Amino acid sequence: MNSPVMQGLNLNTPSYVRNARLIAWVADMVALCKPDSVYWCDGSQEEYDRLCQQLVDAGTFKRLNPAKRANSYLACSDPSDVARVEDRTFICSQKKEDAGPTNNWMDPVEMRATLQPLFDGCMRGRTMYVVPFSMGPLGSPIAHIGIELSDSPYVAVNMKIMTRMGKAVYDVLGVDGAFVPCVHTVGAPLQPGQADVSWPCNPTKYIVHYPETREIWSYGSGYGGNALLGKKCFALRIASTMGRDQGWLAEHMLILGVTSPQGKKYHVAAAFPSACGKTNFAMLIPPKGFEGWKVTTIGDDIAWIKPHADGRLYAINPEAGYFGVAPGTNYKTNPNCMDSLKRDVIFTNVALTDDGDVWWEGMDGEPPAHAIDWQGKDWTPEIGKATGAKAAHPNARFTVAATNNPALDPAWDDPNGVAIDAFIFGGRRSTTVPLVTEARDWVEGVYMAATMGSETTAAATGQQGVVRRDPFAMLPFAGYNMSDYFQHWLDLGRKLQASGVKLPRIYTTNWFRKGEDGKFVWPGYGENMRVLKWMIDRIEGQAAGHDHVFGISPSYEELNWTGLDFSREQFERVMGIDKAAWQQELALHAELFDKLAYHLPAELTRNKAKIEQRLAA
Ligand code: GTP
Ligand code: SPV
Ligand code: MN
Repeated sequence: MNSPVMQGLNLNTPSYVRNARLIAWVADMVALCKPDSVYWCDGSQEEYDRLCQQLVDAGTFKRLNPAKRANSYLACSDPSDVARVEDRTFICSQKKEDAGPTNNWMDPVEMRATLQPLFDGCMRGRTMYVVPFSMGPLGSPIAHIGIELSDSPYVAVNMKIMTRMGKAVYDVLGVDGAFVPCVHTVGAPLQPGQADVSWPCNPTKYIVHYPETREIWSYGSGYGGNALLGKKCFALRIASTMGRDQGWLAEHMLILGVTSPQGKKYHVAAAFPSACGKTNFAMLIPPKGFEGWKVTTIGDDIAWIKPHADGRLYAINPEAGYFGVAPGTNYKTNPNCMDSLKRDVIFTNVALTDDGDVWWEGMDGEPPAHAIDWQGKDWTPEIGKATGAKAAHPNARFTVAATNNPALDPAWDDPNGVAIDAFIFGGRRSTTVPLVTEARDWVEGVYMAATMGSETTAAATGQQGVVRRDPFAMLPFAGYNMSDYFQHWLDLGRKLQASGVKLPRIYTTNWFRKGEDGKFVWPGYGENMRVLKWMIDRIEGQAAGHDHVFGISPSYEELNWTGLDFSREQFERVMGIDKAAWQQELALHAELFDKLAYHLPAELTRNKAKIEQRLAA
């Protein structure tokens, strides 16, 4: 046997770690992965600073000019490891049907046999970091605990920002509390004396979930959602299966508060696919014409939503930080975000300026005359123009604590969460889908969300800009069969409705319609407040809207245009419903429903038939 003790390795388990299952699991994983040492993270600032310095010394981090960005770092990844790898992400349920046709599936026995030799000795020459974290406020009835074992100190410091990470987690865990075990390796063991590279990773990648045993195994990538396992792997894929079993929802949604000049506050949860505007919308600053209105951020990426004793749905943000898209972020599109990024940030794959600051495409002002691009090469605007080379990778990201956000909602850390008044589902569509539509009832809303299409972005590896169906913005994140997931939403709606409370309204939006010039017609960003306000007017019974084939949309007069020059004709271009385009769109819905035929709720098929009848009329 090669137990850690037989290998002569001390696990160094701190005395405050008393959870028997955890201690046994760490011993097992040490025996398998064979790290040189084990380090238990305590989550302190001193530890964060020390690990960051270690990353600087190893060449993974560059410390930015403290006069420009205090206490901030830049990491540049291997060019082969820049985004989530959807084709290498697996849901290994016992039965294939439980993963469903939208997930990659492998039999768990077969997957364990595949991973065993890959993990055997995968951490040789490295330290295993034991990272304890809580998704949600520590001890909240909605929160859950995870422990990530990783051989990446980059992961450890990012987890410190993205989650409630540290030794207080062990107090909540106690001797027999439950946790989700998450094992992560970059898959790059070192031979004795072998020099390390600045971004170790492996061309072979596996991002694996076992929903029945609630385990996560990640191999070969150090980047984002592939490696920060609290985020997509736990808070969406594993949590969505927990929610199915326990009657709650884990969603790819921002959560915001919006307060009227009269002081009335509403809460909205919005699902937009990856890199389609959640962070922007969650930090929105109301434009001219909306004096006295205020938008505050509860979360920018993930929502855990549970029915409360009062019959309403309450949401928490399970995360504690933002791992947001850098390119396109500037003082015009997202001032609150820019202000969040002044200090204490980890940047990944942006460009380094000659004065030790960062730059990315779409940042304010002129591009720098010279910079080092994300791949370490010289970059100038001329090179950019001549070769098309980007200074920052299109999926370059920042990691920053929520507490840096000047628009942070006072209730962001409330263990009870906030009561949701409306859900929004919004894809990225150059054509066809109007700016905003309200569903006439819960089923129509679930249908809208289920059939949402969106053009793919750099957030995942693969082709960009092609329309694909992204139901609920959860295509890469649902941990179980998509049709069962639709059914879960329908069941929850029916249950809440039976208890007599008002359900949240459901809307679909599209900020991304383009004109013949290829430019966005809708100004977007802060101007999206105009659409948000119409939703609130609907909730308050102050906007009639007009019915059309698949829902209710505003007339030109129903939006407040103060401070924006947007003509009736332009409005028609973002709102227009083209009959031929919608006939084609419905054919794509049919294609999706064919694919999802197993367990597809009949209510959705019936809703589709109704739309088809209205279109034909
Ligand atoms: P993930 O973190 O990947 O889940 O994505 P996210 O939804 O938080 O994405 P984010 O808010 O960072 O969106 C980034 C991209 O969306 C950038 O390209 C932005 O310029 C663009 N974007 C955001 N809001 C708008 C908008 O209102 N209009 C337009 N045209 N683009 C927008
Ligand atoms: C997304 O792709 O939706 C993200 C980034 O939020 S990642 O954490 O890398 O998945
Ligand atoms: Mn996301």
